[in-house]
Order: sequence, then C-alpha cells, then structure tokens
Amino acid sequence: MKPVLAITRRLPADIEARANADYDVRINEGDKPLDRSAILALAEGADAVLVSVGDPIDAAFFDALPASVKIVATFSVGTDHIDLQAAARKGIVIGNTPGVLTDATADIAWLLMLGAARRASEGEAEIRTASWSGWRPTHLIGTQVTGKKLGIIGMGRIGQAVARRARGFDMEVHYYNRKRLSADLEFGATYHDSIDALLPHCQFLSLHCPSTAETRGMVDSSFLAKLPKGAILINTARGDVVNDGDVIAALKAGILAAAGLDVFAGEPNIAPEYRSLPNTFLLPHLGSATQETRTAMGTRALDNIDACLAGKDVPFPVGA
Ligand code: DGY
Repeated sequence: MKPVLAITRRLPADIEARANADYDVRINEGDKPLDRSAILALAEGADAVLVSVGDPIDAAFFDALPASVKIVATFSVGTDHIDLQAAARKGIVIGNTPGVLTDATADIAWLLMLGAARRASEGEAEIRTASWSGWRPTHLIGTQVTGKKLGIIGMGRIGQAVARRARGFDMEVHYYNRKRLSADLEFGATYHDSIDALLPHCQFLSLHCPSTAETRGMVDSSFLAKLPKGAILINTARGDVVNDGDVIAALKAGILAAAGLDVFAGEPNIAPEYRSLPNTFLLPHLGSATQETRTAMGTRALDNIDACLAGKDVPFPVGA
C-alpha cells in the first residue's frame, strides 16, 4: 500500500504525476484556498501533508493534526505561514524549498523596478483603454534606473542576484544584512551596518528579508522619511514587512515616487487603495512563477516527503 499524501493546492503536472506514482494522493481539486479545518479533514489518515504559501499552518493546526502525519512539507521557501515552534513541540518534521527561487524572484524584482520607475501600469492602461493620444515630449515621464543608487535589505541568495543584475544597469549598490558578506559575494556593493545608515542611499530600495517578529511593519512612516525624497520601493519579500497605510500615504505625498509590489499583507485581499494609485506597479505574488522554478520547488517538496517517510533526514529541513 502506498503512503497517503494530502496536498492543499494543485501542483505543476509533472509534480502531480510524480506524487501520484509514489503516493495515494488526496488533493484539493478545486484549488481554492482551504481553511484550517478543511486542511485537517484532507490530512485525516495521511502520512504527509504538502502545503503552500498562505495556508494557515498555525498552533491550532498542529494541535489537531492527525497522529499519522509525520511531515508537513511546504511548496515555498518562506515559512511565515507555519508555526515552527508548534511543529517542533509536536515532533512534526517541516521541509521547505530553498535555493531554487533565486533567479525567478530576482527577475520579478527587476520587472517591478523598471515597471514602477517607467510608469508601465499607466502606459499599459492607456493602450488597453485606447486612450493614448500619441507621442509627446511630456508624456508619462518616469525615473531613469541606469546609474542610480539601489539599496537592498537582506543580502541572501535573492538579494545577491538582484545586486548582480544591477551591475548591468551601472547602479551603485548599497546593502544591509545581519552579517556583512565576503568581498567575492559583495560584487563591489557597499555594506551598511544598520538600516538607518542604509536608507539615505536608496533611490531605489528592494526588500529581500523574511517576515519575522523583527521585520513585520518595518517599512513605516519613520522608515520612509529616511529615504531620499521620491525613492522607489520594491517588495518581493513578504507583504507584512511594510505598513500599508504608511506606504500609501508616502505614495500620495510624493515621499515615494512609486512602488513595485509583488506581495501584500492579507493576500489576496490587498489594501484596496494600492489599486487606484497611479504610481503603483502591482503583481499577484508571481516571484517564483516560472515553469522551471515551480517544478524545482515541487521536486524539493517531494524529496523532503520521500526522505522523511523513508526514515531519513530530509534534504531541506526547517527548524524552529
Ligand atoms: C516562497 O516560496 O516563499 C515564495 O514567496 C513563493 O513565490
């Protein structure tokens, strides 16, 4: 008999095929978000559960999780939707998918940077609504990216990949990270030992830090006031790292010239004002959404489950 695997969202076809070959799969066919009780019902009698970004894998979930479940593998690198301490208390193994989202997410950060700086949403809307009146010298004037200063908070794999791409745009890169990188990984970027020291150098600021107790709500009005006036904010990390009310006020006041956002607090129910502001360039959490990356993520998630159910160490464990 095959072990039972509960899966909370539809997965790429090749990953579902592998799961079906090795497991007795129970999947959320409708692919709508499931609440805690629906995930627990799916997990009844399962050996493993494969969850995704946004699933409520909190302390109450672990309290009610059937004893048959040995591992919760998440189809994500982020684990902010999982209460890791509650998992550890219950002895449930947690695995994630690090290292395979780097280029896809860095590319999206660059799409946001260029889109926000060059007013791409407004331009595209004119084309789609047939309201473009033709070329004119003062039409939709944006901000040049080339040669500007880019600040990065969080110089892990994705932050570094964003910084490497910035070299192609002759940007001066500044960064804050809990630890300074070695010179070969810095690629000439300037390290600042505090966020306060970094912010005045950020004509563009790209966030690449996880959502933690320390970073939640970090981008608030006092943070934004330390940026050069008219800076451009890019977020591909997690929505709750920014205070939406303060970012929206800064976009209205010109403290921020624009924002490019791929992630939002309370996704998919984003702060509605973002939609009506002309100076936002918005994407629905597409950072990792390439065929290559999603297949690699699924491969890692199933590798974690295979190893755990075979009694081995999981290749990508997450500790509390
Ligand atoms: C992750 O894996 O945490 C990403 O946010 C998904 O794009």
